[in-house]
Amino acid sequence: MKITKAIIPAAGLGTRLLPATKAIPKEMLPIINVPAIQLIVEEAVKSGIKDILIVVSQTKNPIIDHFDYNYELQQRLIKKNKKELAMMIKKIGDIANIQFIRQKEPLGLGHAIKCGKIFCGNDPFAVILGDDVVKNLPNEKPALRQCIETFLKTNSCVVGIQKIKKELVNKYGIVIPKDKKKEVEKIFTLKGLIEKPSITKTISNYAILGRYVLTNDIFEALEKTKVDQSGEIQLTNALKILIKKGKKVSACQFTGKRYDLGSKIGFVSATIDYALEDPEIKNDIIKLIKDKVDK
Ligand code: UTP
Repeated sequence: MKITKAIIPAAGLGTRLLPATKAIPKEMLPIINVPAIQLIVEEAVKSGIKDILIVVSQTKNPIIDHFDYNYELQQRLIKKNKKELAMMIKKIGDIANIQFIRQKEPLGLGHAIKCGKIFCGNDPFAVILGDDVVKNLPNEKPALRQCIETFLKTNSCVVGIQKIKKELVNKYGIVIPKDKKKEVEKIFTLKGLIEKPSITKTISNYAILGRYVLTNDIFEALEKTKVDQSGEIQLTNALKILIKKGKKVSACQFTGKRYDLGSKIGFVSATIDYALEDPEIKNDIIKLIKDKVDK
């Protein structure tokens, strides 16, 4: 079996980065010169995904434009003898088979996934959040690929996780391992999940970080999932329903450095790390940081 479909939810309000996200989708904010959503799509493609559904909203049209051709710009670049740039922007339009659907109201991640029911049909599929970038080393498999391989190995739904600082658990979906001793292993089975538990009450500090591989019975669970106190349908709560029904859900502790680009600190640290790997600006950035520290 192969996992070739992925949903990328990108219809959230992006309130943490306002006013930048008033008119620009947070998923289009660039890490140096590449929009975050392009990095996400590239990770999906490197992980074996062929068909992608991006969930957008009214204010997210720049995402649709980014993955389209821009014939006029291409022609202008060719006329200016910038053929390489012209090829580069055309390639973005050919990166994968990308479709779009509108989530009419931002009713949560679970609700955004529900918009992909027809796209997925009976096939298992991956989910990768539009603002959650993971940088893997050249010799590492992409984070989503690690989750897909866990799905194929365990024949169960998979959530991609990493250990986080205890004081941050109230910002994430947290997993509860079936066997506490196994939580140090790369793959373990879940007993349950909790959406944003309080710091004092949490049982674990392994957080779901933007990558899932799901079977299509998640759609029935999402139908049964009640709206939470913030008015949203949470994917974590739908997964809880599946576990209660006796379905196996596994965690894949993926490797790689993860950035929450929807937060100020995540956005800035991704910018610094990617800049330090960009041969064109690397030395200038190191000098700039050194000068600041010396002062
Ligand atoms: P977030 O919770 O990080 O996005 O959702 P948000 O709601 O835009 O963030 P803030 O807190 O207001 O800053 C994770 C991903 O799920 C998408 C978001 O676009 C993001 O990529 N999402 C979230 C949807 O597609 N629809 C929703 O209703 C909520």
